[in-house]
Amino acid sequence: MKSFWRNKKVLITSGPTREHLDPVRFLSNASSGRMGAALAAEALARGARVTVVTGPAITPLPKRAQVVHVNGAQEMLDACLKALPGTTAVIGAAAVADFRPAVPSARKIKKQGAKPLVLKLVPTPDVIGTLSKRKKKGRPLTAGFALETDDLINNAREKMEKKHLDLIVANGPDALFSDKTRAMVLAKGGGAAFYSGSKKGLARMIFDFLGRSL
Ligand code: CTP
Repeated sequence: MKSFWRNKKVLITSGPTREHLDPVRFLSNASSGRMGAALAAEALARGARVTVVTGPAITPLPKRAQVVHVNGAQEMLDACLKALPGTTAVIGAAAVADFRPAVPSARKIKKQGAKPLVLKLVPTPDVIGTLSKRKKKGRPLTAGFALETDDLINNAREKMEKKHLDLIVANGPDALFSDKTRAMVLAKGGGAAFYSGSKKGLARMIFDFLGRSL
């Protein structure tokens, strides 16, 4: 199994992203980066070369991974595009903020009495979706996650198609703050498996699935 991934290049996005409103405030989320770290460790254990493009996350990444630190979604996309050549598989484990302030303020936003502050938000780029569109002859393989609160499998399959992914991992919000997870792994070709356990075990299943598509 190890030889499958030996010297193959794997790119992983991880952690939350931050979109600044002003120099001291930002929009973000509570992603810990645990799934990204588990995927990086699994890829390294299988002999792959690993690049992780990560937002500010609390979970340490394996020492042998090449790590690129970013803040916003655009910065994450730019770093991934730079790392993309020669990549066999890209896994989008980052919890990318979907919106950013249309016009971030260069200075700290001040209160103006009781006047409400109205923020205009615009969509951020879809990192894994953009990388998927760069595929040539089906490579790199791309995998993503789908956090859904209802109709898990149908919504995840739809997301896999929309983002041109080869594999999607569908889970509920309970995975967010935990090292345990319950997920459905769905492959483009129709394969599916339920997983319940540690994120380390889920990472193993994801690489097994991706390996079958190689
Ligand atoms: N993703 C990404 N760039 C974004 C948003 C999401 O790369 N701007 C990736 C995530 O890393 C994940 C997958 O897309 O692998 C799905 O993320 P999710 O938040 O579930 O989907 P969204 O595209 O944000 O759709 P929605 O929130 O409308 O369900």
